[in-house]
Amino acid sequence: MFSSLSRILLLLVTQSLATHIYGQDCSCSSVVVSTHVDTLIAKDPSDPFGGLQSNATDLRRLNETYDTFGVFCAPTQKTAQSTDVVQLLVHGFSYTNEYWSPATEEFQNQSYAAYACERGLSTFAIDVLGTGQSTRPANASDVQYASTSAVISQLARHLKSTSIIPGVESFKQVIGVGHSAGSASLIYGAIVEAENSPLDALVLTGEVTLQPGGLSIPGIVSGRDDTPLRWSSLDPNYVTVTSTDRTLFYPADTSLFSPRMVTYDGFTKDLGPTSLLAALGFSSLSVNYTGPVAKVVGLQDQLICVGTGRCDDIEALNAAERVLWPKAKSFEVILTEGGHCMNLDFLAEGAFSVVVGLVKQFAGLN
Ligand SMILES: *[C@@H]1O[C@H](CO)[C@@H](O)[C@H](O)[C@H]1NC(C)=O
Ligand SMILES: *[C@@H]1O[C@H](CO)[C@@H](O)[C@H](O)[C@H]1NC(C)=O
Ligand SMILES: *[C@@H]1O[C@H](CO)[C@@H](O)[C@H](O)[C@H]1NC(C)=O
Ligand SMILES: *[C@@H]1O[C@H](CO)[C@@H](O)[C@H](O)[C@H]1NC(C)=O
Ligand SMILES: *[C@@H]1O[C@H](CO)[C@@H](O)[C@H](O)[C@H]1NC(C)=O
Repeated sequence: MFSSLSRILLLLVTQSLATHIYGQDCSCSSVVVSTHVDTLIAKDPSDPFGGLQSNATDLRRLNETYDTFGVFCAPTQKTAQSTDVVQLLVHGFSYTNEYWSPATEEFQNQSYAAYACERGLSTFAIDVLGTGQSTRPANASDVQYASTSAVISQLARHLKSTSIIPGVESFKQVIGVGHSAGSASLIYGAIVEAENSPLDALVLTGEVTLQPGGLSIPGIVSGRDDTPLRWSSLDPNYVTVTSTDRTLFYPADTSLFSPRMVTYDGFTKDLGPTSLLAALGFSSLSVNYTGPVAKVVGLQDQLICVGTGRCDDIEALNAAERVLWPKAKSFEVILTEGGHCMNLDFLAEGAFSVVVGLVKQFAGLN
């Protein structure tokens, strides 16, 4: 009830000025884009390769139209770089578009959208299928990497062909910037679409190649058990991470983040389907994508780096990751300071600077 009502209201406020970011010279608008996906997905949503290794008998057709909510931000002062290039920002598991710009003034320094905008770059931060104010299919098994990535590709094509709000022309380049499971969605799309991908470059934060079962996150719980007030009527396969376990997304050193950020994170967290955790084994498959690619990983990332030895030797990490992208125009892994949710700790500006640098380099800007 609440969500359908809020969706109607949001459609009405579409194109009005939002206050999601605090940069003085940026304006942001809430946008809802409808996309049609027609794709094959795994019958078993716990398939470790997300259907990519399956034969036809293990797949089913998903032919649906979904709404995607997003926040578009652009510098008020238009330049070629802000009107030609847009970053499509794809959040990770149990977050929403707010990962890229927490909607409270205290955390203005955690806003990647504001940081990028102040440096002349436009962003479109979406709520991934099944989260936030985007369509949440009743059956969680409809939300898999095959469907999230299909929506993302359709959005990228939309951004390149159509004006999303009055006064903003279609873009020449769309660069995918992901975090964690959002990076995984971009990789899934890069496997499926390869040289036909509508994304001109990929910046993948908070993600490394995993073998099936290679990641375990504590505190996974059905949304309806965790927060009945919000989610009691939902499919139990929509899950979240308990508010107490979310500190794992931050550095182990508690002086590196605000305890109020973790509290805020707990209040604003969202859901994802179990499939997004179960299917990460596909990230060990080879990708024929042809654009430039970079992965950005935080050294204080307790899911990826700390205690794993993985981030001790950057040459070895680069070699292990690069081999899966044989046709990429360029590929590198960059280690930065920061935890798993590198936007949300006090080290965020270091990660922001690396990501903006990569986006400008890939877009061919200065
Ligand atoms: C499809 O894969 C399943 C196991 O995943 C197997 O049992 C079945 O024989 C395969 N079918 C074909 C036509 O290859
Ligand atoms: C797929 O969905 C479209 C749009 O809803 C519809 O027109 C079409 O008939 C569907 N195709 C099949 C095979 O169901
Ligand atoms: C944000 O960062 C700037 C520059 O580092 C600093 O001066 C300011 O106090 C910070 N603001 C908040 C709310 O933390
Ligand atoms: C969800 O969809 C799958 C595949 O169509 C089906 O097997 C399953 O029973 C559905 N679950 C619910 C709760 O409707
Ligand atoms: C990638 O391209 C190679 C040929 O260059 C092909 O053998 C392989 O099947 C392709 N991979 C995928 C996932 O399509």
